[in-house]
Amino acid sequence: MSPARPRTDTRFVCQTCAAEQLRWEGQCRACGAWNSLVETVVDRAPVRRAPAGLGGGAQPVALGDVIEPERTRLPVGIGEMDRVLGGGLVPGSVVLVGGEPGIGKSTLVLQAAAGVVASGGDVLYASGEESPAQVRLRAARLGLLGTAAAERIRLFAATEVGRILDAARDSAPALLVVDSIQTATTDELDGPAGSVGQVRQSALRLTELAKESQTAVILVGHVTKDGTLAGPRTLEHLVDAVLTLEGERYAALRVLRTAKNRFGSTDEVGVFEMREDGLAEVADPARAFLAEHEADVPGSMVVPTMEGTRPLLVEVQALVAPAAYGSARRTAAGLDPNRLALLVAVLARRAGVGLGSHDVYASLAGGLHVDEPATDLALAAALASSLRDAPVDRGTVAVGEVGLLGELRQVAGLERRLREAARLGFRRAIVPRGSRSAAGAVPGLDVVAVGSVREALEILVGPARAASPRGPGRS
Ligand code: TYD
Ligand code: MG
Repeated sequence: MSPARPRTDTRFVCQTCAAEQLRWEGQCRACGAWNSLVETVVDRAPVRRAPAGLGGGAQPVALGDVIEPERTRLPVGIGEMDRVLGGGLVPGSVVLVGGEPGIGKSTLVLQAAAGVVASGGDVLYASGEESPAQVRLRAARLGLLGTAAAERIRLFAATEVGRILDAARDSAPALLVVDSIQTATTDELDGPAGSVGQVRQSALRLTELAKESQTAVILVGHVTKDGTLAGPRTLEHLVDAVLTLEGERYAALRVLRTAKNRFGSTDEVGVFEMREDGLAEVADPARAFLAEHEADVPGSMVVPTMEGTRPLLVEVQALVAPAAYGSARRTAAGLDPNRLALLVAVLARRAGVGLGSHDVYASLAGGLHVDEPATDLALAAALASSLRDAPVDRGTVAVGEVGLLGELRQVAGLERRLREAARLGFRRAIVPRGSRSAAGAVPGLDVVAVGSVREALEILVGPARAASPRGPGRS
């Protein structure tokens, strides 16, 4: 990297929203953040290249004549990750792997690097987070020492992107790993590592390398507490795929999702378990998120959710307790808190389940996050079950979106959900009315179609008590 690159243009870039200003000010004009402007040298002439595989064809082509370029994939040898990637890494593509600190990103990426070696490629692993000794320690834990991976994964303790690029050009690896992009800096710019300008410019340089040399690049990125990738939004636009590794740090299960994928579907999820010797694929993901308890317990209901094309059975748990003075608490983990609040209101008005003066806690077993509204009915049932202290039959699942009028709405992919439930031994399913035909032929499953949440709760936890003997309030 020549140090004499002309420093032409500087801007003050907001570290929060990436807005640019000409002069320093105490507050960003765009997002209002204080003290967030950092002077950054901006490269005004970004190299514009056609994305890999699109070809530089300047002539319009009839849709039918477009030739699908054949992509040779570079499998990472981890079934669940290859699946999420859409069949492996695409040479020349850049994949961002995000996740909270300590969740297992470096572990996953090192295992993927070993997989690339196993399929015949060399790997350059640039580590700015950890020393080579620390990475070696992890490799020992994963059982990689003494294997081909120990020979063909080359560690590079560098953070300056120019040096990383030089090393990559010299050794021409099949895969380049940069762990993490927040520690990468480029000499072209001022500003500290992790700042918007540095992260973006470093990623841009690495993207150019990927395209020009057909090297697959994996960038590791940290996410902040609220789940967004630290650094500029633009990072997600620069890369070809964004994978996120989620889970609870102190629980073993991890879910790998795609937030963006230019070369595959964004729906697939991979399910892993963090073990002593690294991340292991979960043999039967569909049942991984079912909590294990012996007896029927009030406040639990299983819902067949869909993650992409994969049905997962998940246990929704709820606990309601009379609130102390003041406003009642509503806490949701793994579920949308707004949906919880809405359901509490609908239950009170449409189903005779009054939770107004109760604290309400709801969560999904196993640390999974599910956003789909199809979990509404199971959440409603878990809440009603906890309030009445009446367990739901353990052989039953419930699925359906609850509308504002207390009506049940149909969900997509019902038949697949129900087949999976039947496979795992469930005997009865409560589903929205109108969907029975779709679910008619699920052997071994008694499918009960209902029109409203009130009807469903009557079946699951018994009829609503118009005026509950103990009353909905404090007892
Ligand atoms: P790490 O991959 O370093 O996380 P990240 O790069 O996302 O910060 O691993 C995080 C945790 O995983 C760490 O606390 C130790 C644990 N771990 C295992 O349980 N088993 C293993 O085999 C390895 C390598 C790590
Ligand atoms: Mg790490």
